[in-house]
Amino acid sequence: ALYTESVRPQIHFSPTVNFMNDPNGLVYSNGTWHLFYQYNPTQNVAGNQHWGHAVSTDLYHWKNLPIAIAPEKEGEGIFSGNAVIDFENTTGFFNGSTPKDQRIVAMYTLNTDTSQTQHLAYSSDGIHFTKYPGAVISRNQTQFRDPKAFWDEKSSRWIVALALSQEFGIVFYSSPNMKDWTEVSRFQSYGILGYQYECPDLFQVPVEGGPDDGKMMYVLAISINPGALIGGSFVQYWVGDWDGSKFTPRDNAVRTMDFSKDFYAFSSWNNSPGKKAYAIAWANNWQYSQQVPTSPFRSIQSLPRELTLKYYRPTPQFGDLILNNRPVNLSAIHGKTLYKSENGNSARNQTVNLSGQGAFDITATFKLPANANITYNTIASFEIFAGDGKQSVKTGIQMGEPAVAYIDRRGAGQSFAAQNPFFTDKTSGIIRYAANYTTASSENADQYVLGPLPPSAYLDSTDQAQYIKLQAVVDRSVIEVFVNDGELAGTSVFYFDNDQIPSKVTVSVGDNKLQLVDLEVRALNSIWS
Ligand code: FRU
Repeated sequence: ALYTESVRPQIHFSPTVNFMNDPNGLVYSNGTWHLFYQYNPTQNVAGNQHWGHAVSTDLYHWKNLPIAIAPEKEGEGIFSGNAVIDFENTTGFFNGSTPKDQRIVAMYTLNTDTSQTQHLAYSSDGIHFTKYPGAVISRNQTQFRDPKAFWDEKSSRWIVALALSQEFGIVFYSSPNMKDWTEVSRFQSYGILGYQYECPDLFQVPVEGGPDDGKMMYVLAISINPGALIGGSFVQYWVGDWDGSKFTPRDNAVRTMDFSKDFYAFSSWNNSPGKKAYAIAWANNWQYSQQVPTSPFRSIQSLPRELTLKYYRPTPQFGDLILNNRPVNLSAIHGKTLYKSENGNSARNQTVNLSGQGAFDITATFKLPANANITYNTIASFEIFAGDGKQSVKTGIQMGEPAVAYIDRRGAGQSFAAQNPFFTDKTSGIIRYAANYTTASSENADQYVLGPLPPSAYLDSTDQAQYIKLQAVVDRSVIEVFVNDGELAGTSVFYFDNDQIPSKVTVSVGDNKLQLVDLEVRALNSIWS
Protein backbone atom coordinates (compact mmCIF):
# COMPACT_ATOMS: atom_id res chain seq x y z
CA ALA A 1 0.00 0.00 0.00
CA LEU A 2 1.15 3.55 -0.70
CA TYR A 3 1.66 6.35 1.82
CA THR A 4 1.77 3.93 4.76
CA GLU A 5 5.39 4.35 5.94
CA SER A 6 5.32 5.36 9.58
CA VAL A 7 6.91 8.80 9.30
CA ARG A 8 5.10 9.61 6.05
CA PRO A 9 2.94 12.72 6.60
CA GLN A 10 -0.74 11.92 6.09
CA ILE A 11 -2.28 15.32 5.40
CA HIS A 12 0.52 16.87 3.35
CA PHE A 13 1.25 16.25 -0.29
CA SER A 14 4.29 14.10 -1.01
CA PRO A 15 5.20 12.01 -4.05
CA THR A 16 4.82 8.23 -3.73
CA VAL A 17 8.54 7.71 -4.33
CA ASN A 18 11.69 9.78 -4.93
CA PHE A 19 12.66 13.40 -4.50
CA MET A 20 10.43 16.47 -4.69
CA ASN A 21 11.27 20.14 -4.23
CA ASP A 22 9.55 23.38 -5.33
CA PRO A 23 5.84 23.66 -6.05
CA ASN A 24 5.37 24.72 -9.69
CA GLY A 25 2.60 25.69 -12.09
CA LEU A 26 0.01 26.48 -9.43
CA VAL A 27 -3.19 27.30 -11.24
CA TYR A 28 -6.91 26.88 -10.65
CA SER A 29 -8.67 25.59 -13.74
CA ASN A 30 -12.23 24.45 -14.25
CA GLY A 31 -12.87 23.57 -10.58
CA THR A 32 -9.48 21.93 -10.10
CA TRP A 33 -6.41 23.08 -8.20
CA HIS A 34 -3.26 22.02 -10.02
CA LEU A 35 -0.03 21.36 -8.18
CA PHE A 36 3.02 20.64 -10.29
CA TYR A 37 6.34 20.17 -8.58
CA GLN A 38 10.06 19.77 -9.11
CA TYR A 39 10.56 16.04 -9.25
CA ASN A 40 13.35 13.55 -9.80
CA PRO A 41 11.50 10.39 -10.87
CA THR A 42 14.58 8.17 -10.64
CA GLN A 43 16.31 9.00 -7.36
CA ASN A 44 15.66 10.13 -3.81
CA VAL A 45 17.91 13.18 -4.19
CA ALA A 46 17.66 16.26 -6.44
CA GLY A 47 18.63 16.05 -10.12
CA ASN A 48 17.03 15.01 -13.41
CA GLN A 49 14.31 17.60 -12.81
CA HIS A 50 10.80 16.97 -14.21
CA TRP A 51 7.41 18.49 -13.44
CA GLY A 52 5.42 16.04 -11.35
CA HIS A 53 1.67 16.66 -11.14
CA ALA A 54 -1.25 16.28 -8.76
CA VAL A 55 -4.77 17.75 -8.63
CA SER A 56 -7.28 18.53 -5.92
CA THR A 57 -10.72 20.00 -5.51
CA ASP A 58 -10.18 21.21 -1.92
CA LEU A 59 -6.40 21.80 -1.69
CA TYR A 60 -6.06 18.90 0.77
CA HIS A 61 -7.01 15.68 -1.03
CA TRP A 62 -4.58 15.15 -3.91
CA LYS A 63 -4.76 12.78 -6.81
CA ASN A 64 -1.48 11.87 -8.46
CA LEU A 65 -1.23 12.29 -12.22
CA PRO A 66 1.51 11.28 -14.66
CA ILE A 67 4.59 13.45 -15.04
CA ALA A 68 3.50 16.56 -16.94
CA ILE A 69 6.75 17.89 -18.43
CA ALA A 70 9.94 15.90 -18.97
CA PRO A 71 13.29 16.94 -20.43
CA GLU A 72 14.15 15.86 -23.97
CA LYS A 73 17.81 15.12 -23.30
CA GLU A 74 19.84 13.58 -20.57
CA GLY A 75 21.57 16.24 -18.50
CA GLU A 76 18.81 18.79 -19.06
CA GLY A 77 16.27 19.74 -16.42
CA ILE A 78 12.79 21.21 -16.41
CA PHE A 79 13.25 23.73 -13.61
CA SER A 80 10.70 25.76 -11.70
CA GLY A 81 8.01 27.91 -13.25
CA ASN A 82 4.35 28.61 -13.21
CA ALA A 83 1.12 28.25 -15.17
CA VAL A 84 -1.67 30.57 -16.28
CA ILE A 85 -5.06 30.29 -17.94
CA ASP A 86 -5.02 31.82 -21.41
CA PHE A 87 -8.75 32.64 -21.50
CA GLU A 88 -8.59 34.68 -24.69
CA ASN A 89 -6.20 32.35 -26.53
CA THR A 90 -3.58 35.08 -26.91
CA THR A 91 -1.02 32.34 -27.56
CA GLY A 92 -3.01 30.76 -30.37
CA PHE A 93 -2.35 27.35 -28.78
CA PHE A 94 -6.03 26.46 -28.38
CA ASN A 95 -8.99 25.95 -30.61
CA GLY A 96 -12.55 27.06 -29.97
CA SER A 97 -13.58 23.71 -28.53
CA THR A 98 -11.35 24.08 -25.45
CA PRO A 99 -13.34 25.74 -22.68
CA LYS A 100 -11.76 29.07 -21.82
CA ASP A 101 -10.82 28.11 -18.29
CA GLN A 102 -9.07 24.91 -19.44
CA ARG A 103 -6.47 26.67 -21.57
CA ILE A 104 -3.43 26.07 -19.44
CA VAL A 105 -0.05 27.48 -20.41
CA ALA A 106 2.98 26.56 -18.32
CA MET A 107 6.17 28.60 -18.37
CA TYR A 108 9.33 26.97 -17.05
CA THR A 109 13.10 27.23 -17.10
CA LEU A 110 15.08 24.77 -19.19
CA ASN A 111 18.34 24.14 -17.38
CA THR A 112 21.34 22.93 -19.37
CA ASP A 113 25.06 22.93 -18.66
CA THR A 114 25.47 26.20 -20.47
CA SER A 115 22.23 28.17 -20.01
CA GLN A 116 18.93 28.77 -18.33
CA THR A 117 16.21 29.80 -20.78
CA GLN A 118 12.45 30.21 -20.52
CA HIS A 119 9.98 27.97 -22.34
CA LEU A 120 6.27 27.28 -22.77
CA ALA A 121 4.17 24.11 -22.74
CA TYR A 122 0.38 24.00 -23.05
CA SER A 123 -2.48 21.68 -22.27
CA SER A 124 -6.16 21.54 -23.17
CA ASP A 125 -7.02 18.65 -20.88
CA GLY A 126 -5.05 19.61 -17.78
CA ILE A 127 -2.99 16.40 -18.04
CA HIS A 128 -1.01 16.21 -21.28
CA PHE A 129 1.36 19.02 -22.20
CA THR A 130 2.80 19.98 -25.57
CA LYS A 131 6.06 21.89 -25.65
CA TYR A 132 6.24 25.05 -27.73
CA PRO A 133 9.55 24.79 -29.60
CA GLY A 134 12.45 27.03 -28.64
CA ALA A 135 13.03 29.53 -25.86
CA VAL A 136 10.70 32.51 -25.48
CA ILE A 137 13.18 34.41 -23.27
CA SER A 138 16.94 33.95 -23.21
CA ARG A 139 19.72 36.22 -22.02
CA ASN A 140 22.88 34.20 -22.45
CA GLN A 141 22.84 33.51 -18.74
CA THR A 142 23.36 30.46 -16.57
CA GLN A 143 21.59 31.92 -13.52
CA PHE A 144 18.29 33.16 -14.88
CA ARG A 145 15.22 31.23 -13.84
CA ASP A 146 11.86 30.50 -12.21
CA PRO A 147 9.28 32.43 -14.28
CA LYS A 148 6.09 33.51 -12.57
CA ALA A 149 3.68 34.78 -15.24
CA PHE A 150 0.26 36.36 -14.76
CA TRP A 151 -2.28 38.33 -16.76
CA ASP A 152 -1.88 41.92 -15.63
CA GLU A 153 -5.20 43.73 -15.30
CA LYS A 154 -3.40 47.06 -15.01
CA SER A 155 -1.72 46.93 -18.40
CA SER A 156 -3.84 44.28 -20.16
CA ARG A 157 -0.92 42.08 -21.09
CA TRP A 158 1.11 39.22 -19.71
CA ILE A 159 3.79 39.97 -17.16
CA VAL A 160 6.45 37.57 -16.01
CA ALA A 161 8.80 37.90 -13.06
CA LEU A 162 12.15 36.10 -13.33
CA ALA A 163 15.15 35.81 -11.05
CA LEU A 164 18.55 37.00 -12.22
CA SER A 165 19.67 34.85 -9.38
CA GLN A 166 23.25 35.84 -8.76
CA GLU A 167 22.70 39.51 -9.61
CA PHE A 168 20.11 39.69 -6.82
CA GLY A 169 17.58 40.97 -9.30
CA ILE A 170 14.00 40.27 -10.24
CA VAL A 171 13.41 41.26 -13.84
CA PHE A 172 9.91 41.87 -15.20
CA TYR A 173 8.94 41.36 -18.84
CA SER A 174 5.66 42.03 -20.65
CA SER A 175 4.06 40.30 -23.62
CA PRO A 176 0.83 40.33 -25.63
CA ASN A 177 1.03 36.60 -26.45
CA MET A 178 3.51 34.93 -24.06
CA LYS A 179 5.88 34.35 -26.97
CA ASP A 180 7.38 37.81 -27.55
CA TRP A 181 8.65 39.40 -24.37
CA THR A 182 10.07 42.87 -23.61
CA GLU A 183 11.91 43.78 -20.43
CA VAL A 184 9.98 46.46 -18.51
CA SER A 185 11.62 46.88 -15.10
CA ARG A 186 13.83 45.49 -12.38
CA PHE A 187 13.67 45.07 -8.65
CA GLN A 188 17.25 44.80 -7.56
CA SER A 189 19.25 44.26 -4.38
CA TYR A 190 16.50 44.53 -1.82
CA GLY A 191 16.44 42.87 1.55
CA ILE A 192 18.67 40.00 2.52
CA LEU A 193 20.59 39.02 -0.60
CA GLY A 194 22.03 35.73 0.52
CA TYR A 195 23.80 33.91 -2.28
CA GLN A 196 21.02 34.01 -4.83
CA TYR A 197 17.42 34.98 -5.50
CA GLU A 198 15.04 32.27 -6.65
CA CYS A 199 11.33 31.72 -7.32
CA PRO A 200 9.92 35.27 -7.44
CA ASP A 201 6.17 35.62 -7.09
CA LEU A 202 4.16 38.82 -7.60
CA PHE A 203 0.52 38.37 -6.61
CA GLN A 204 -2.45 40.17 -5.12
CA VAL A 205 -3.62 39.74 -1.54
CA PRO A 206 -6.75 41.12 0.16
CA VAL A 207 -6.37 43.36 3.21
CA GLU A 208 -8.24 41.95 6.20
CA GLY A 209 -9.86 44.35 8.66
CA GLY A 210 -9.50 48.08 9.13
CA PRO A 211 -10.18 50.87 6.70
CA ASP A 212 -8.78 49.00 3.69
CA ASP A 213 -10.74 45.81 4.35
CA GLY A 214 -11.13 43.83 1.13
CA LYS A 215 -8.78 46.01 -0.88
CA MET A 216 -6.30 44.02 -2.99
CA MET A 217 -2.65 44.93 -2.65
CA TYR A 218 0.49 43.51 -4.28
CA VAL A 219 3.04 41.33 -2.59
CA LEU A 220 6.38 40.34 -4.10
CA ALA A 221 7.90 37.20 -2.58
CA ILE A 222 11.47 36.12 -3.25
CA SER A 223 13.10 32.90 -2.13
CA ILE A 224 16.74 33.08 -1.05
CA ASN A 225 19.11 30.12 -1.02
CA PRO A 226 21.62 29.76 0.45
CA GLY A 227 21.93 32.72 2.78
CA ALA A 228 19.01 32.70 5.18
CA LEU A 229 20.03 34.27 8.48
CA ILE A 230 19.25 31.02 10.23
CA GLY A 231 20.87 29.06 7.44
CA GLY A 232 19.97 27.76 4.02
CA SER A 233 16.66 28.64 2.42
CA PHE A 234 13.99 31.16 3.36
CA VAL A 235 11.33 33.41 1.83
CA GLN A 236 11.15 37.18 2.16
CA TYR A 237 8.48 39.51 0.82
CA TRP A 238 7.55 43.12 0.19
CA VAL A 239 4.17 44.77 0.16
CA GLY A 240 3.79 47.47 -2.45
CA ASP A 241 2.30 48.86 -5.63
CA TRP A 242 2.36 47.44 -9.10
CA ASP A 243 1.61 50.06 -11.76
CA GLY A 244 1.53 47.71 -14.74
CA SER A 245 5.27 47.89 -15.32
CA LYS A 246 7.07 48.32 -12.05
CA PHE A 247 6.85 47.11 -8.48
CA THR A 248 7.45 49.74 -5.80
CA PRO A 249 7.69 48.54 -2.20
CA ARG A 250 5.98 50.71 0.42
CA ASP A 251 9.03 50.49 2.67
CA ASN A 252 12.38 48.78 2.95
CA ALA A 253 11.35 46.50 5.76
CA VAL A 254 12.54 42.92 5.47
CA ARG A 255 9.78 40.53 6.22
CA THR A 256 10.08 36.79 6.35
CA MET A 257 7.13 34.62 5.61
CA ASP A 258 7.94 31.93 8.13
CA PHE A 259 10.12 32.12 11.22
CA SER A 260 11.45 28.59 11.05
CA LYS A 261 13.60 26.68 8.58
CA ASP A 262 11.34 24.57 6.41
CA PHE A 263 9.31 26.85 4.18
CA TYR A 264 10.83 27.53 0.78
CA ALA A 265 10.08 28.22 -2.89
CA PHE A 266 6.75 29.74 -1.85
CA SER A 267 4.30 30.10 -4.72
CA SER A 268 0.74 31.38 -5.02
CA TRP A 269 -2.08 30.01 -7.17
CA ASN A 270 -2.98 31.85 -10.33
CA ASN A 271 -6.68 32.33 -11.12
CA SER A 272 -7.96 31.63 -7.58
CA PRO A 273 -11.72 32.13 -7.39
CA GLY A 274 -12.94 35.15 -5.42
CA LYS A 275 -10.69 37.87 -4.13
CA LYS A 276 -8.53 35.43 -2.25
CA ALA A 277 -4.88 34.44 -2.19
CA TYR A 278 -3.78 30.83 -1.76
CA ALA A 279 -0.25 29.50 -1.71
CA ILE A 280 1.98 26.59 -0.78
CA ALA A 281 5.69 26.10 -0.15
CA TRP A 282 8.19 23.28 -0.11
CA ALA A 283 8.50 22.22 3.53
CA ASN A 284 12.22 21.62 3.68
CA ASN A 285 15.58 23.34 3.44
CA TRP A 286 18.37 22.83 0.92
CA GLN A 287 20.83 22.47 3.80
CA TYR A 288 19.56 18.98 4.62
CA SER A 289 16.64 18.08 2.35
CA GLN A 290 18.68 15.46 0.51
CA GLN A 291 19.64 13.68 3.72
CA VAL A 292 16.40 13.64 5.71
CA PRO A 293 15.64 10.11 6.95
CA THR A 294 12.56 9.33 4.88
CA SER A 295 12.22 6.74 2.17
CA PRO A 296 11.26 5.84 -0.46
CA PHE A 297 10.39 9.54 -0.84
CA ARG A 298 11.86 12.84 0.27
CA SER A 299 10.05 16.07 1.03
CA ILE A 300 6.50 17.27 1.39
CA GLN A 301 4.68 20.44 0.49
CA SER A 302 3.48 22.67 3.35
CA LEU A 303 -0.17 22.88 4.27
CA PRO A 304 -1.99 25.02 1.72
CA ARG A 305 -2.14 28.56 3.07
CA GLU A 306 -4.65 31.35 2.78
CA LEU A 307 -3.06 34.78 2.80
CA THR A 308 -4.33 38.17 3.87
CA LEU A 309 -2.65 41.45 4.77
CA LYS A 310 -3.19 43.05 8.16
CA TYR A 311 -2.06 46.28 9.71
CA TYR A 312 0.29 46.21 12.68
CA ARG A 313 2.00 48.96 14.63
CA PRO A 314 4.57 50.26 12.15
CA THR A 315 8.25 49.86 12.85
CA PRO A 316 11.14 50.63 10.50
CA GLN A 317 12.25 47.05 10.82
CA PHE A 318 8.96 45.47 9.90
CA GLY A 319 6.80 48.12 8.23
CA ASP A 320 3.08 48.21 8.90
CA LEU A 321 1.37 45.65 6.66
CA ILE A 322 2.09 42.03 7.42
CA LEU A 323 1.15 38.97 5.48
CA ASN A 324 -1.07 36.70 7.53
CA ASN A 325 -0.54 33.12 6.64
CA ARG A 326 -2.87 30.40 7.91
CA PRO A 327 -3.91 26.92 6.82
CA VAL A 328 -6.74 26.73 4.33
CA ASN A 329 -9.87 25.70 6.25
CA LEU A 330 -8.99 22.43 7.93
CA SER A 331 -12.57 21.25 8.15
CA ALA A 332 -11.99 19.27 4.93
CA ILE A 333 -9.84 16.87 6.95
CA HIS A 334 -11.05 17.22 10.52
CA GLY A 335 -11.43 13.91 12.30
CA LYS A 336 -12.58 13.11 15.78
CA THR A 337 -12.20 15.49 18.67
CA LEU A 338 -9.55 14.18 21.05
CA TYR A 339 -10.02 16.88 23.67
CA LYS A 340 -12.16 19.95 24.11
CA SER A 341 -12.09 22.15 27.19
CA GLU A 342 -15.17 23.38 28.92
CA ASN A 343 -15.60 27.09 28.63
CA GLY A 344 -13.24 29.06 30.83
CA ASN A 345 -11.01 26.14 31.72
CA SER A 346 -8.12 27.49 33.73
CA ALA A 347 -6.06 24.32 34.17
CA ARG A 348 -2.38 25.08 33.83
CA ASN A 349 -1.38 21.67 32.54
CA GLN A 350 -3.16 19.25 30.34
CA THR A 351 -2.13 16.00 28.65
CA VAL A 352 -3.99 14.62 25.68
CA ASN A 353 -3.38 11.13 24.32
CA LEU A 354 -3.38 11.01 20.58
CA SER A 355 -4.56 7.38 20.31
CA GLY A 356 -2.28 6.66 17.39
CA GLN A 357 -3.32 9.81 15.50
CA GLY A 358 -0.04 11.09 14.17
CA ALA A 359 -1.80 13.95 12.41
CA PHE A 360 -3.66 16.43 14.58
CA ASP A 361 -4.50 20.05 15.15
CA ILE A 362 -4.06 21.59 18.61
CA THR A 363 -5.37 25.08 19.29
CA ALA A 364 -5.18 26.89 22.61
CA THR A 365 -6.21 30.37 23.64
CA PHE A 366 -4.31 31.99 26.47
CA LYS A 367 -5.54 34.99 28.40
CA LEU A 368 -3.30 37.73 29.68
CA PRO A 369 -5.28 39.76 32.21
CA ALA A 370 -5.10 43.55 32.00
CA ASN A 371 -2.00 44.97 33.69
CA ALA A 372 -0.41 41.58 34.24
CA ASN A 373 3.21 42.14 35.08
CA ILE A 374 4.73 39.61 32.77
CA THR A 375 8.34 38.56 32.43
CA TYR A 376 10.23 36.27 30.14
CA ASN A 377 9.20 33.43 32.41
CA THR A 378 5.71 33.85 31.13
CA ILE A 379 5.69 30.99 28.69
CA ALA A 380 2.93 28.79 27.38
CA SER A 381 3.86 25.73 25.39
CA PHE A 382 2.88 22.52 23.69
CA GLU A 383 5.15 19.49 23.91
CA ILE A 384 4.58 16.69 21.44
CA PHE A 385 6.01 13.36 22.55
CA ALA A 386 7.12 10.37 20.52
CA GLY A 387 5.84 6.92 21.45
CA ASP A 388 8.82 6.23 23.73
CA GLY A 389 8.05 9.38 25.73
CA LYS A 390 11.75 10.27 25.61
CA GLN A 391 11.80 12.43 22.53
CA SER A 392 9.69 15.47 21.89
CA VAL A 393 9.27 18.58 19.84
CA LYS A 394 8.03 21.77 21.46
CA THR A 395 6.42 25.00 20.45
CA GLY A 396 5.30 27.94 22.54
CA ILE A 397 4.95 31.61 23.12
CA GLN A 398 7.16 33.61 25.42
CA MET A 399 5.81 36.92 26.63
CA GLY A 400 8.01 39.96 26.98
CA GLU A 401 9.13 42.90 24.89
CA PRO A 402 8.98 41.68 22.25
CA ALA A 403 6.92 38.57 22.69
CA VAL A 404 8.03 35.62 20.59
CA ALA A 405 6.81 32.27 19.35
CA TYR A 406 9.26 29.41 18.95
CA ILE A 407 9.68 25.86 17.75
CA ASP A 408 12.22 23.66 19.50
CA ARG A 409 13.16 20.35 17.87
CA ARG A 410 16.35 19.68 19.80
CA GLY A 411 14.65 16.89 21.76
CA ALA A 412 13.69 15.08 18.56
CA GLY A 413 15.66 12.78 16.32
CA GLN A 414 19.09 12.70 17.91
CA SER A 415 20.50 10.37 15.31
CA PHE A 416 19.61 12.59 12.38
CA ALA A 417 20.41 15.88 14.13
CA ALA A 418 23.80 14.58 15.24
CA GLN A 419 24.89 14.10 11.63
CA ASN A 420 23.49 17.40 10.42
CA PRO A 421 24.93 20.55 11.98
CA PHE A 422 22.51 22.61 9.90
CA PHE A 423 19.44 20.97 11.39
CA THR A 424 18.90 24.04 13.57
CA ASP A 425 17.37 23.09 16.87
CA LYS A 426 15.41 26.16 17.88
CA THR A 427 13.84 28.94 15.86
CA SER A 428 11.69 31.87 16.88
CA GLY A 429 9.80 34.84 15.51
CA ILE A 430 8.53 38.11 16.92
CA ILE A 431 4.85 38.53 17.66
CA ARG A 432 3.69 41.95 16.47
CA TYR A 433 1.34 44.53 17.89
CA ALA A 434 -1.88 44.10 16.00
CA ALA A 435 -4.02 46.98 14.87
CA ASN A 436 -6.97 47.41 17.17
CA TYR A 437 -9.68 48.69 14.95
CA THR A 438 -12.28 48.60 17.67
CA THR A 439 -10.83 51.83 19.06
CA ALA A 440 -9.26 53.20 15.91
CA SER A 441 -10.49 56.44 14.50
CA SER A 442 -7.46 57.68 12.62
CA GLU A 443 -3.85 56.90 11.99
CA ASN A 444 -2.51 57.21 15.50
CA ALA A 445 -0.81 55.00 18.00
CA ASP A 446 -4.02 54.17 19.84
CA GLN A 447 -4.94 52.20 16.84
CA TYR A 448 -2.61 49.46 17.93
CA VAL A 449 -2.92 47.16 20.87
CA LEU A 450 -0.31 48.24 23.39
CA GLY A 451 -1.07 46.27 26.48
CA PRO A 452 1.22 45.80 29.43
CA LEU A 453 4.31 44.31 27.78
CA PRO A 454 1.92 42.95 25.24
CA PRO A 455 2.03 40.42 22.55
CA SER A 456 -0.10 41.36 19.62
CA ALA A 457 -2.93 39.56 21.26
CA TYR A 458 -6.53 40.24 20.60
CA LEU A 459 -7.83 42.85 22.99
CA ASP A 460 -11.20 42.22 24.48
CA SER A 461 -12.97 45.52 25.01
CA THR A 462 -14.95 44.37 28.03
CA ASP A 463 -12.21 43.04 30.29
CA GLN A 464 -9.16 44.67 28.67
CA ALA A 465 -7.47 41.30 28.77
CA GLN A 466 -5.50 40.13 25.78
CA TYR A 467 -5.99 36.78 24.14
CA ILE A 468 -3.25 34.95 22.32
CA LYS A 469 -4.09 32.02 20.14
CA LEU A 470 -1.52 29.32 19.47
CA GLN A 471 -2.23 26.62 16.92
CA ALA A 472 0.01 23.74 15.89
CA VAL A 473 -0.79 21.37 13.07
CA VAL A 474 1.35 18.29 13.50
CA ASP A 475 1.65 15.54 10.91
CA ARG A 476 4.00 12.72 11.99
CA SER A 477 7.24 14.47 11.00
CA VAL A 478 6.28 18.10 10.48
CA ILE A 479 4.89 20.86 12.68
CA GLU A 480 3.33 24.09 11.46
CA VAL A 481 2.67 26.74 14.07
CA PHE A 482 0.32 29.70 13.72
CA VAL A 483 -0.03 32.54 16.20
CA ASN A 484 -3.23 34.59 16.23
CA ASP A 485 -4.62 32.96 13.09
CA GLY A 486 -1.51 33.33 10.99
CA GLU A 487 -0.01 36.61 12.11
CA LEU A 488 3.13 34.60 12.60
CA ALA A 489 3.82 31.18 11.09
CA GLY A 490 6.61 28.67 11.61
CA THR A 491 7.21 25.40 9.76
CA SER A 492 9.65 22.73 10.95
CA VAL A 493 10.24 19.15 10.00
CA PHE A 494 11.46 16.78 12.73
CA TYR A 495 12.36 13.10 12.69
CA PHE A 496 11.95 11.08 15.85
CA ASP A 497 14.45 8.25 16.15
CA ASN A 498 13.28 4.78 15.15
CA ASP A 499 10.51 6.13 12.93
CA GLN A 500 8.28 6.93 15.88
CA ILE A 501 5.25 9.17 15.51
CA PRO A 502 3.62 11.53 18.02
CA SER A 503 1.74 9.77 20.81
CA LYS A 504 0.66 12.48 23.24
CA VAL A 505 0.74 16.22 23.65
CA THR A 506 0.97 18.29 26.80
CA VAL A 507 0.01 21.90 27.24
CA SER A 508 1.63 23.88 30.01
CA VAL A 509 1.48 27.42 31.22
CA GLY A 510 4.76 28.52 32.80
CA ASP A 511 3.51 30.97 35.41
CA ASN A 512 0.19 32.04 36.79
CA LYS A 513 -0.06 35.29 34.87
CA LEU A 514 -1.24 33.57 31.75
CA GLN A 515 -4.38 31.48 31.81
CA LEU A 516 -5.37 28.69 29.50
CA VAL A 517 -8.95 29.52 28.58
CA ASP A 518 -9.63 27.26 25.66
CA LEU A 519 -8.10 24.08 24.29
CA GLU A 520 -9.08 21.82 21.48
CA VAL A 521 -7.25 18.87 19.97
CA ARG A 522 -8.61 17.24 16.84
CA ALA A 523 -7.40 14.32 14.81
CA LEU A 524 -6.84 15.03 11.13
CA ASN A 525 -7.86 12.35 8.67
CA SER A 526 -5.39 10.96 6.22
CA ILE A 527 -5.84 12.38 2.74
CA TRP A 528 -4.52 9.14 1.25
CA SER A 529 -7.07 6.66 2.57
C1 FRU B 1 14.68 26.43 -5.85
C2 FRU B 1 15.36 25.96 -7.12
C3 FRU B 1 14.93 26.81 -8.30
C4 FRU B 1 15.13 25.88 -9.45
C5 FRU B 1 14.72 24.55 -8.87
C6 FRU B 1 15.49 23.38 -9.42
O1 FRU B 1 14.59 25.47 -4.86
O2 FRU B 1 16.75 25.96 -6.95
O3 FRU B 1 15.62 28.02 -8.41
O4 FRU B 1 14.35 26.22 -10.56
O5 FRU B 1 14.94 24.64 -7.47
O6 FRU B 1 14.95 22.18 -8.96
